[in-house]
Amino acid sequence: MIEHNKNKTYIMQRTEIKDALRCTSFGQPINVRGWVRSRRGNKNVSFIALNDGSTIKNIQIVVDLAQFSEELLKPVTTGACISATGTLVESQGAGQSVEIQLTELEVYGSADPEKYPLQKKGLSMEFLRTVAHLRPRTNTFGAVFRIRHHMAMAIHTYFHEHGYFYFHTPLITASDCEGAGQMFQVTTKNLYNLRKTEDGQIDYSDDFFGKMAALTVSGQLEGELGALALGKIYTFGPTFRAENSNTPRHLAEFWMIEPEVAFIQKDELMDLEEDFIKFCVRWALEHCMDDLEFLNQYVDKGLIERLRSVIDTDFVRLPYTEGINILQEAIRNGHKFEFPCQWGDDLASEHERFLVEEHFRKPVIMTDYPKDIKAFYMKINDDQKTVQGTDVLFPQIGEIIGGSVREENEAKLNDEIERRHIPMKDMWWYLDTRRFGSAPHAGFGLGFERLMLFVTGMQNIRDVIPFPRTPKNAEF
Ligand code: 4AD
Ligand code: MG
Repeated sequence: MIEHNKNKTYIMQRTEIKDALRCTSFGQPINVRGWVRSRRGNKNVSFIALNDGSTIKNIQIVVDLAQFSEELLKPVTTGACISATGTLVESQGAGQSVEIQLTELEVYGSADPEKYPLQKKGLSMEFLRTVAHLRPRTNTFGAVFRIRHHMAMAIHTYFHEHGYFYFHTPLITASDCEGAGQMFQVTTKNLYNLRKTEDGQIDYSDDFFGKMAALTVSGQLEGELGALALGKIYTFGPTFRAENSNTPRHLAEFWMIEPEVAFIQKDELMDLEEDFIKFCVRWALEHCMDDLEFLNQYVDKGLIERLRSVIDTDFVRLPYTEGINILQEAIRNGHKFEFPCQWGDDLASEHERFLVEEHFRKPVIMTDYPKDIKAFYMKINDDQKTVQGTDVLFPQIGEIIGGSVREENEAKLNDEIERRHIPMKDMWWYLDTRRFGSAPHAGFGLGFERLMLFVTGMQNIRDVIPFPRTPKNAEF
């Protein structure tokens, strides 16, 4: 709005709705800008519910139809973007503390009611995924993405305050950290005319990096290099997995937080995992209450109670072998699982959830897995059969953290690399850490979207990241 004040002309500053709702300068002029959530009224007065994303709450704009004709208000439909200037007043109606009596209106952009996809309330999550470019404007997704920001701040705050350095590991790499062969290749080669070597292999020597390269599945290996110099580091960045799993808990592109710490052992690693998750959950309760209350009411009635209970409870620490015994016992008592769970099997999510949701009814840190179901870098126990993995299993989610103590002994690590036929020449730099000043160390990876699932109560991982990447889907 242009205001004329003596000889000066200036544009009135925008107040964010979250601040406007707390403001008590009644009778003063105020300007807010945002997207119309709804408009209703009668022949004398119109009420606009306006939201600018700064908070889940709308501010009410009261329009006196004696001053603004219906014609002028015509473009102010659901989804339109407006700038509203008026007088801040104490609200007469229930449900809000302040409202604005409109004196000046500017329409930045209308939204054709025939075409705007977010017309109705109660649209399904499946439908909203098809309009992921607009869904941040809904209450639910606004709440989720504000919480996502706060959780990122929680993570940086936790590690910064505990003396960790944020260490940037590469996204393009030539090594498969998890050894699961689920990497997306990165190439500038002409895929329609691939040169092969004499033995029929693709010749990468003329490719951009001169060898096969891919998007990283984990920053851990480079993170270890950081920890063995700086002592305590963490990474927080995107990771990529070409696993063809169409589940509510898998993405092809997800964000991972990977702390790596020198001179700690298994118990201290588990303490770190537990303390870190509790810090993040507490942070959500302290910084995101308006959004959590909304989600608690409309998405998951048990959400806030579940968040509180996690902070107050000690996580169970359970060796894999004992876990298998509990599952076998459940089967003997008539419990049916879809997948087998003999010693040596990787646990399916139904097994993890049985332990966490039915048996213990709290988070479980599972330790000492059979070595053949875990990655090559995990420290082998004296029994030669199990490794010092420390995964955290959560209610509703299953595995939220995958972690371990790392094998720091060069000979033992070499044996494992050979046993698994991992190409040694690609790993020379990693093995150097074990050759030169090797040190005990450990770390873990937390899937950021799995944490987001827990903190928001959302059911599908596609709904806690703005633009999900999954098999056959890279829209937006
Ligand atoms: O258990 P993962 O595969 O462990 C690692 O990558 C280790 N290098 C981490 C480390 O020790 N530094 O993955 C770690 C976590 C899982 O527990 C899960 O939360 C998440 O990453 N995750 C996924 N999240 C979404 N979509 C996927 N496809 C995921 N795969 C793993
Ligand atoms: Mg894992």
